[in-house]
Amino acid sequence: MSEMNAPVTGAVVVVGTHWGDEAKGKFVDLIGQDADVIIRYGGGPNAGHTVIVGDTTHKFHLIPSGILNPRSLCLMADGMVIAPEVLAREVATLREHGLSVENLRVSQNAHVILPYHRKLDLLEETAKGEGAIGTTGRGVGPCYADKASRIGIRMGDLVNEERLRERLRVVLPMKNALLTKLYGAEPFTEEEILAELLPLADTLRPFVCDTQALAYDAVAVGKRILFEGAQATLLDIDGGTYPYVTSSHPISGGATIGTGVPPTAIGQVLGVVKAYTTRVGAGTFPTELLDERGERIRERGHEYGTTTGRPRRCGWLDAFALRYSMRVNGITGLCMGHLDVLAGFKTVQICTHYAKNGVKLAHFPTGDVSLLDGCEPVFETLPGWEEADWDRMTRFEDLPANAQAYVRRVEEIAGIPAVLVSVGPRRDQTLVASGKPAPRELFTLQRPQVFGAPALAPIPSHVL
Ligand code: GDP
Ligand code: IMO
Ligand code: MG
Repeated sequence: MSEMNAPVTGAVVVVGTHWGDEAKGKFVDLIGQDADVIIRYGGGPNAGHTVIVGDTTHKFHLIPSGILNPRSLCLMADGMVIAPEVLAREVATLREHGLSVENLRVSQNAHVILPYHRKLDLLEETAKGEGAIGTTGRGVGPCYADKASRIGIRMGDLVNEERLRERLRVVLPMKNALLTKLYGAEPFTEEEILAELLPLADTLRPFVCDTQALAYDAVAVGKRILFEGAQATLLDIDGGTYPYVTSSHPISGGATIGTGVPPTAIGQVLGVVKAYTTRVGAGTFPTELLDERGERIRERGHEYGTTTGRPRRCGWLDAFALRYSMRVNGITGLCMGHLDVLAGFKTVQICTHYAKNGVKLAHFPTGDVSLLDGCEPVFETLPGWEEADWDRMTRFEDLPANAQAYVRRVEEIAGIPAVLVSVGPRRDQTLVASGKPAPRELFTLQRPQVFGAPALAPIPSHVL
């Protein structure tokens, strides 16, 4: 049987390995050309996924990047939080570009971001003072908090006026008490919220349904399913660098929690990693470059947020964090990008470990942000590579020799092969290494029997 016709052995999850903006959108768009169903499983309009096709740049905050494949069903699943006005705008923009949204479906269980969530996001950030997280200000945290407190409003409520009014009658007085009594802010009236929401509900009603059932049916008949991760591993509410995280589960496990698809349906987990590391917002970033090298990466890589326009903090590749990411996500292959951006450095560095009080840590410290604070990155130095004709590369072997060696070294440290390598934002600036599966074949690979994680020694007690 040819690979093209081989039966599907599992869904593919695309996750960010660090603090977001690794180019998940680009890889999802590419792999999504061969997927039957593309599902975003978490997060909300805090995400910004850029996809460049021909002369058009698409920036998605909510709709999965896979919408650009007209043959695939695109699901926004239970784990998402949805700002109705952002979704309506994205639908309109796609239509303006002559693209169909016929294949888009939104979970009735996804939670709605309301005006008071946005306001509380900003007020809470201000109240935190120096401890502010640097959120995107989109109301994501307060919306997930209401979900957990069971006072959220879901998409199924939004599109049913009677239920929406009922829910608001319960929730709004609580929110207004918080706004006025704790923060001294103006309350919202039910009528002003309804005036904003009801027209949006009319626009969005045709998309809202039971996406769990659609996803389940697709799994049952062996469709090619691609999960689009948003945010990234180190922003995970449990596994990330808490409290400087988002409020959802961007890790691969989130793909099952956020969709109703069982873990056994997943075959491959692809970790998207940049040749360097970036972070937006506050929180420790051990490999950050606060000098002209960081500035150079930011300018060459256009490292400014897709959602907020904030300059992204830039640093050398944190491969110690990558090893953690590999473990927590069960990553089976890397999608490594932005190699073009590092061109021109005489030498480049990779952080292989952190040291604390002169002792190397065995594990990436999560759970206690103060542990991360005193960590010094331990670097390995590799020769850099020159500018190259990034527009004309078609094979991994076309990369400058030192860039190839860099990818090989990252593979070694991570213990995971790179399946796709990217040298620019366009689809055709993606290289498949010889002997590695083409994107379509990812859905038919045998599942790995064991993860490639090398045994890790415990952290010496005097470090903790
Ligand atoms: P996401 O949030 O993970 O989808 O990533 P973003 O879209 O926020 O940021 C990635 C940025 O890098 C986008 O502007 C992409 O167009 C761009 N990009 C993707 N791959 C490459 C690459 O290999 N090289 C360069 N220079 N840019 C890339
Ligand atoms: P994509 O999908 C980068 C960061 C914010 C902030 C923290 C909490 O494009 O990779 P939130 O608004 O979620 O409460 O903010 O998380 N953050 C992201 N950083 N890329 C993202 O998404 C992000 N989504 C949230 O900057 O530090
Ligand atoms: Mg982004």
